[in-house]
Amino acid sequence: MALKRVMVLTGGGDCPGLNAVIRGIVKRASQEKDWEVIGCIESFNGVLREPTEIVVLDEKTVEGLHMQGGTILGTTNKGGPFAWPVKNADGSWTTVDRSDEMLRKLQYMGVDAVINIGGDGSQRISLGLYEKGLNIVGVPKTIDNDLSMTDYTFGFQTAVQICTDAIDKLVTTAASHNRVFILEVMGRDAGWIALHSAIAGGADVCIIPEIPYNVEKIKEKIETRYNKRRGYCVCVVAEGAKPVGGGVTGTVTGEIGYQHIKLGGIADQLAAELKAAGVEHDIRCTILGHLQRGGTPIAFDRILASEFGVCAFELVKEGRFGQMVAYQHPNIVGVPLAEAVREPHLLTPNHRLIHTARGLDIEFGD
Ligand code: F6P
Repeated sequence: MALKRVMVLTGGGDCPGLNAVIRGIVKRASQEKDWEVIGCIESFNGVLREPTEIVVLDEKTVEGLHMQGGTILGTTNKGGPFAWPVKNADGSWTTVDRSDEMLRKLQYMGVDAVINIGGDGSQRISLGLYEKGLNIVGVPKTIDNDLSMTDYTFGFQTAVQICTDAIDKLVTTAASHNRVFILEVMGRDAGWIALHSAIAGGADVCIIPEIPYNVEKIKEKIETRYNKRRGYCVCVVAEGAKPVGGGVTGTVTGEIGYQHIKLGGIADQLAAELKAAGVEHDIRCTILGHLQRGGTPIAFDRILASEFGVCAFELVKEGRFGQMVAYQHPNIVGVPLAEAVREPHLLTPNHRLIHTARGLDIEFGD
């Protein structure tokens, strides 16, 4: 019997649960006699580079991986087959499309199907390759939870737990010192992490990209939390938040092949605006940064990632390419990649959780 070969890779920023997906794919594939699994190192780079960087993934390789953070395959959020960075003679950089060359190489390597575990950028690459004829299935990963067609991406709940733990800790120091604390969390253009952790951590203020803020409203809320000098206030602010009529806070990284603005700094920006607006209490900022992406996945994400892994292999086995696995409660299903990446999954002002947060007196600054 001829062996069929599925290649797995992880792309974009890492997040807890990537290894649990890999383990799910390999364990499910091992139940079939005619499939083998290989892993491509650092997203598609392992195929695009010479010499090729590929590893065999078997049951032994994935033992115990369900609880391990990061990704054993490595990852990158730069470049890719459609935009491979190349240095010009004058030292500047340009990008070239190497997708056709990569597809030929995959054929030569005897790869029958590919499973791409990644966020919106990675799944856009999956769609582009599918449209060029590659047998590919996507698995939605990101702490930001901003991919459409799935209730949750794995990694998100772990990030929320990390932020909630941070708020729990900030509350005690804020109360002891009568301070205002601003906690800056990730999420890019989506406020999912901020909103979930603000509710779970009992924050007073939650500033999200989907609702531009008015600093006067935040100031008013802060003052209600103080009786003369005594009191404290905990504000959670999403990195992509912006004032009414203003833009996001961040920097252009200058990193080759990195297409985003590197968001960050809104907490300090907001602190300065609050001071300028007349808030006299001490304000301290905490930026959680990559702590939100590191470490072991919580049980929810281990389970979701395992379900995604098993389902992804089954989609491959059934020949259902051009699909992304998705959680649509209570089912794990396959959805068209094109629909998953059509538009980002953002909060809407009338979302149930925003209603809940308002019911808990959480101020959005609007
Ligand atoms: O998309 C995941 C994410 O962690 C975002 O929340 C954040 O803005 C970005 O990646 C950070 O990317 P990098 O690791 O390249 O700094």
